[in-house]
Amino acid sequence: MCGIVGIIGKEHAEEVILKGLERLEYRGYDSAGLFVANAETAHLVKAQGRIRNLEEKITPSTTGTMGIGHTRWATHGKPSEANAHPHTSASQRLVLVHNGVIENFEALHQEYLSEDHFIGQTDTEIVVHLVEKMMASGTTVKEAFKKTLGLIRGSYAFALVDRKDPETIYVAKNKSPLLIGLGDGFNVLCSDALAMLDQTDRFVELEDGEMVTVRADHITIEDIAGNEITRAPYQATFDASDIEKGTYPYYMLKEIDEQPAVMRRIVEHYTTDGQIVMDSQLIKELAGSDRIYIVACGTSSHAGWAAKKFIETLAEIPVEVHLSSEFGYDMPLLSKKPFFIYLTQSGETADSRQVLVKTNQLGFPSLTITNVAGSTLSREADYTLLLHAGPEIAVASTKAYTAQIAVLALLAKKVGEYQANPIALELDIAHELGLIASGMETVINEKALIQELAADYLTDTRNAFYIGRSNDYYVSLEAALKLKEISYIQAEGFAAGELKHGTIALIEEDTPVIGIITEEITGSHTRGNLKEVESRGAKTLTIVSEELAKETDQIILPTVHPLLTSLISVIPTQLIAYYATLQRGFDVDKPRNLAKSVTVE
Ligand code: G6P
Repeated sequence: MCGIVGIIGKEHAEEVILKGLERLEYRGYDSAGLFVANAETAHLVKAQGRIRNLEEKITPSTTGTMGIGHTRWATHGKPSEANAHPHTSASQRLVLVHNGVIENFEALHQEYLSEDHFIGQTDTEIVVHLVEKMMASGTTVKEAFKKTLGLIRGSYAFALVDRKDPETIYVAKNKSPLLIGLGDGFNVLCSDALAMLDQTDRFVELEDGEMVTVRADHITIEDIAGNEITRAPYQATFDASDIEKGTYPYYMLKEIDEQPAVMRRIVEHYTTDGQIVMDSQLIKELAGSDRIYIVACGTSSHAGWAAKKFIETLAEIPVEVHLSSEFGYDMPLLSKKPFFIYLTQSGETADSRQVLVKTNQLGFPSLTITNVAGSTLSREADYTLLLHAGPEIAVASTKAYTAQIAVLALLAKKVGEYQANPIALELDIAHELGLIASGMETVINEKALIQELAADYLTDTRNAFYIGRSNDYYVSLEAALKLKEISYIQAEGFAAGELKHGTIALIEEDTPVIGIITEEITGSHTRGNLKEVESRGAKTLTIVSEELAKETDQIILPTVHPLLTSLISVIPTQLIAYYATLQRGFDVDKPRNLAKSVTVE
C-alpha cells in the first residue's frame, strides 16, 4: 500500500529509484513520482498511472546523486498527478514521500495551515507544509520534522529532503514498513527489501517512532526521545533473481507453477529425518490452549478456513477463523486459554496488526505465519513460522495460500503428536505433502485444458459461482475471490446446499456454476445441487477427485489425503482465474483498485 524508495550517494539515482518503484508496484500503482538532486540541480517528476508513465517523462537531464520515489495506492484524494507524491512545502524547499494515513490532518490544517494553498487533497501535503511552518522560527529541518512528528497521529513511513541540503534524507516510521539498506559509499531506503536487493543485501529494520538521518556514508537512528540507537543490519535471504519474471508473461503464472517446489521446500525446512522440527515452547503453548483463533484477511483468511478441519482433527483443539477487520472491533467472548494465529503473507496488513496489538495488550500468546521474515506482525507476535514461499509479487495470492495450509498442516500434526493423538501419530504429513507436490504438477500440466474451459465458460459472463461443501466450500470462497479480483467477473463462493435458499434466484441461462467435489458423502449432494442449477439454465463445470470422477466431469484431480484436498483443488481455480483474465484482456498481475500489502485499516 504505497511504496517508498530512496538512495543517497550514487550516480544516476533516478535509475535505481525507477527500478525500485517497479518492484514495489505491487503496493499500489495509480500514480508515481520521484525527486532527484545533486549539488547543482534538482528535478521533481510525477505521473498518473503506472511507473512506465513516469519513466516516459524522465529525460537525460533528470538525474542526480540522491533522490526519493513513491508509487501510490490512493487513500486521501483520487489518483491524479496533483495527488501523486512527492509533495512539496509552500516554498517548494521541502520534498516529502509518505506511506500511511495521517488521521488528524484536517485538524492540523485548520490549526496551523488555514492560510496555505494546496495543490491536491492528500494528508501528506499537509505534513510537508507543516514541517516548513515549524521552521519559521529558525528551527533546523531536522528539529522541525521532529516537532511535526510529535503533532501528527496515524501511520507513516516518511522520507523528507531539503533542496538546500541534498546530502541528507530524513526518514521516520510509525506502523508503516520502512527499511534502510546499507551500501558501500551509499545508502538506500525502501518499504520492502525486494526493491533494493540489487543494490545491497544488508538492511536495518526500524521500530515505530524512530527517526533516521541518512547520508551517503552514515546513518543515525534516534528514538522519540532523541537517544541514538545502534542496530546491526540483517542479511536478506533471497536474491534478486527470485523476483524476476524470467520467461513467464506474468508473475501469477510463475507463482502458480512454483507451488510444487514450495511444498517440497516447506517439508525440507520443517523436517529432519522425517521428524517435524518446530519450537517446542510454541507446540507446548498451543497444546495447552483450549481454542485457536485464526485471524486474517482476504486469501489468508481462506487458508485459515481450509486448515480448520485438519487442525481440529489432528491437534484436537477447536478452531475459530475470523476476519481481522471485524475481530478487532467486535471481539467475541473468548475462551479461557486462547491462542492466536495470525496468517499474513506480507506480515504488514494493518487490519491484522490492530488485532495483534489488542491481543498482546490482553496478554494472549500468538503466532504469526508469514512469508516475510522481520515483518511487523512477525516481530510483534510471540512466535513466527515462515512460509518459505519466496517473494510473491502478483497481487492475487496463490503460492502463499497453499504454503500457509502446508505450514499449518505440519504444525497441527506436531501439536497432535504432542497430545499423543493416534490420528496425528499415524499421519505421515511430510510424505503426504510430497504426494501433493506431484499432484499439483499433474494439474499444472493440464493448463491447455483449463485455458480452453476458462475461455468457454468465462469469456463473456457477468457473473459466476463456485460451489462445494465442507473443505470444497472453503476452496470455493478462495476460487471466487481469485476470479473476481483479477477478471472482474462477479463471482461468489457458495456452500452448495445453501444456494437453493435464496441465491439460486440469480441463476440464468448460461450462468457458469463450477462445482468442487473431493469428498464422497458431500460430493453426491453437491452433484444434486449442480443438477438443480442446470435445470434452471446454468452451465456447469466440475472439478473432481479422481476416485469420485465420472466420465462427464471436466477437471480431474489426483487423489490426495482427505484432510488436505484444498491444496490440490485450488490449483485449477487459480489457473481458471488466470486464463479468464487473459481472455478478457486485463492485467493479471495488477488488477484495478487493489494493492498487495494493505497497510491501512
Ligand atoms: C490484500 C491482498 C490480498 C491478501 C490480503 C491479506 O487485500 O490484495 O491478496 O490476501 O491483502 O494480505 P496478507 O499479506 O495479510 O496475507
